[in-house]
Amino acid sequence: MIYAKEFFDLQLQFARRVSELGAMPLQVALLDYTNLYVRFVGDRQFDGDDPIWSTYLAGFRGEVDLGDWTYRFYLHRPHRVQPPSVIATFGCFAYAMGKPGQIRLHFHNTDGHRHGPLSAERSASRLSELTSLVHHVRSQQVAVKEVAGVSWLYNLTAYRRLFPESYAASATVAENRFRNMPLWGQFLNRHGGIRKDAVTAFARRVSDRTTMDELAQCFPLQPLAVSAPIEAFFEFYAQNPAARFGG
Ligand SMILES: CC(C)(COP(=O)(O)OP(=O)(O)OC[C@H]1O[C@@H](n2cnc3c(N)ncnc32)[C@H](O)[C@@H]1OP(=O)(O)O)[C@@H](O)C(=O)NCCC(=O)NCCS
Repeated sequence: MIYAKEFFDLQLQFARRVSELGAMPLQVALLDYTNLYVRFVGDRQFDGDDPIWSTYLAGFRGEVDLGDWTYRFYLHRPHRVQPPSVIATFGCFAYAMGKPGQIRLHFHNTDGHRHGPLSAERSASRLSELTSLVHHVRSQQVAVKEVAGVSWLYNLTAYRRLFPESYAASATVAENRFRNMPLWGQFLNRHGGIRKDAVTAFARRVSDRTTMDELAQCFPLQPLAVSAPIEAFFEFYAQNPAARFGG
C-alpha cells in the first residue's frame, strides 16, 4: 500500500514544530519524532548514519520543497509495511517474537473488500485470521505464553471486539511512540489516504501549542499497550465469536 503525500507532510510539519520548541536540529526531529526512518529504511535501528537515511538528509541541500523531496524519496523506496521481524502473516494480522515467551501482534489492512476491515461485516474474516494465527503459534512456538501489542487501534471498539476482554482491558498508555505507526497510523484510512478531519484538527493544534509536552498531547488517540496470556485467546476463539457478528 502506498501512503498519501499528506501523511508525510503532516509529519514534516510536526518535526518542524518539535525542532522549534525542542531547540533541536530538524534532522534529529525527523529521526526521533516521525515515522520516516521506518518508511525509508525498514528496520527499527534508528541509525542516524544509515546510508539510506543519510541519502535522504543529503537531499535537503538545494531542495526548495522538503515535502516534494520527502515524498519522491518515499516513492522510490520498497513499500514494506511489516517489520522484518515478522514471523508469519494471516490476512491483516502478523506476529513477531517479543520478549522470551511472548509474541507481538501487528495489524495492516490487506482486505480489499468494499466494507472496512474493522467493520461488523468483516469481523468474521478478522476473527478467522486471528484464530489461524494463535493455532499457528500453538503448534510452532510452544514456549509462547503471552500475546502483546501496542497500537492506537486498541482505542477503537471495532478493533477491541476482535480480542479477549482481558487483553483489551489490560491497556495502558504507551509513551514516546513518535517514531512508530502505533501512533501515526491513526491519521490514515484503509486506502492509505489521510483522515482529513483528524489531520486538519491535529495540524491546527500543532501550530498553536507552545511547549513540547503540549505537542505530545496533540494526538487525538494515544497508543495503548496490551497483553494477556495466550490461553485467553484460545478460549475466546474456541467460543466461535464470529457468530456474534453474523459471520
Ligand atoms: C486501521 C485502518 C485500516 C482503519 O481505516 P478505516 O478506513 O477507518 O477502516 P474501517 O472503516 O474498517 O474502520 C472501522 C471503524 O473505526 C473507526 N476509525 C478508524 N480510524 C479511526 C480514528 N483514527 N479515530 C476514530 N475512529 C476511527 C472508523 O470510523 C470505523 O468506525 P465506524 O464503523 O463506526 O465508521 C487504517 O487507519 C489504517 O490502515 N491505518 C494504518 C495502519 C495502522 O495504523 N496499523 C496499526 C499499526 S500498530
